[in-house]
Amino acid sequence: MVPTAEHHDVVIIGGGPGGYAAALYGASAGLDCALIEKAKVGGTCLHVGCIPAKELLETAAVHRTVRHAGDFGIGVDEPTIDWSVTQARKQQIIDDLTKGLSGLLKGRKVTMYEGAGSLSADRQVTVSGGASGDVTLTADAVIIATGSVPRTIPGFEVDGTTVVTSDEFLSLDTLPERAAVIGGGAIGCEFASTLSDMGAEVTVLEALPKILPGCDEDVTKAVERSFRKRKIDIRTGVAVDGHDPRAEGGTTIRLGDETLDVDLVVVSVGRSPYTEGLGLDAAGVKTDERGFVVVDSACRTDAEGVWAVGDVVATPALAHVGFAEGMVAIRDILGEDPQPVDYDRVPWCIYCHPEVAFAGHSEQSARDAGLDVVTATHRYLGNGRARIVGDTEGLVKVIALRDGDGAGQIVGVHMVGPWVTEQLGQAYLAVNWEATAAEVAAFIQPHPTLSETFGEAVQALTGRSLH
Ligand code: NAI
Repeated sequence: MVPTAEHHDVVIIGGGPGGYAAALYGASAGLDCALIEKAKVGGTCLHVGCIPAKELLETAAVHRTVRHAGDFGIGVDEPTIDWSVTQARKQQIIDDLTKGLSGLLKGRKVTMYEGAGSLSADRQVTVSGGASGDVTLTADAVIIATGSVPRTIPGFEVDGTTVVTSDEFLSLDTLPERAAVIGGGAIGCEFASTLSDMGAEVTVLEALPKILPGCDEDVTKAVERSFRKRKIDIRTGVAVDGHDPRAEGGTTIRLGDETLDVDLVVVSVGRSPYTEGLGLDAAGVKTDERGFVVVDSACRTDAEGVWAVGDVVATPALAHVGFAEGMVAIRDILGEDPQPVDYDRVPWCIYCHPEVAFAGHSEQSARDAGLDVVTATHRYLGNGRARIVGDTEGLVKVIALRDGDGAGQIVGVHMVGPWVTEQLGQAYLAVNWEATAAEVAAFIQPHPTLSETFGEAVQALTGRSLH
């Protein structure tokens, strides 16, 4: 089809990871793609999510490393933090990546529309309220990729200074001395870890009996132990009733009979799909009771010719899942019958200290699914490289199907410890390739590396071992 000014093969609403991946991948496959974005390309991940959060965690890691420099015989004074430099560095990284992404989209000849996109029937999309003015587009295929926003809880209205969500936390002007983090999930643990390593007194308030839902029990315990050692107060099974701001600044949180005085409250209790003003009803796109767009395994919505990807659908709210769904949608549009994303085996990485990374079943989820499994666990304590870098907390746990007296297919790998987010690759491949313990154990791990811990855990499943 020859594109006119208003018609495109694919119109994508939302320029976050799901949307820009669809645009880049579609353009690289020869499709004429248009991308509508009302703010900046990059979405939550680049501007108020993964990238700034990990940058601040890295700043926290540098601070921690410098504080322990004496262990290596390197004398330094007590490190100080110039928060304005920290913020400027973070912003520079975001700006550079945004520029790079814009250049990439331009290079692929993706047509950009600046404004809010709204759907009507028959794959018609209007753009309004931005630099592109009012434009009506038609498309052979439309992809909704409008993402999500932080969820809030009653009694904790966000004011941007005392009560914040991840949106505000990442650009705070000053560091608090005492902070409460409500919700001990991925965001809560990353922020608690950042704040603590930067010198703040931190309390995590989690409603469930444990933090980090979804992680293997042994992994959660290792994080809890490390947090407690760093004096992060973890309170589980708590109900937060509300808070009373104090005249002199800060606030007092009510927790049943108890109270907690803090300078900052970070609310990290999950995210909600963002579909405001999208015109989903008019277009015949169905949502579920929580507002997520309903899709099938090829990311198709109920409306003919309309797909949805990323945080706006009820799949793991991870940038790389958005990338994968963007590619699935494009391949489906191209009629290539794509393999669906295997949501139970996607890689998860949480960048708190110690880091957490996993793919596939935890021991408990495997047993809950009725699988007969065996496990092997190896700790970083005895690993040479971990000793060298001075970071020996954590473990690797491998979960495999029982095969006779031994272990067969690896169904999950859960890791906690130094740089495990960078070590997950081969574990992810093992789980998704449906490799057996014996097959993986035959591969050599370079020495001395942290990855030997994974190799040792897999060896142990074969009934033999080295270290
Ligand atoms: P989450 O769903 O991971 O965790 C929220 C936590 O808050 C849960 O443990 C929940 O029990 C708790 N909670 C809910 N209501 C509460 C209440 N009233 N009082 C106390 N605790 C309460 O959500 P989170 O951490 O906000 O992250 C949102 C999404 O962002 C996640 O689904 C995750 O996929 C994604 N994310 C992933 C990251 C990573 O993989 N590194 C980092 C940041 C976010």
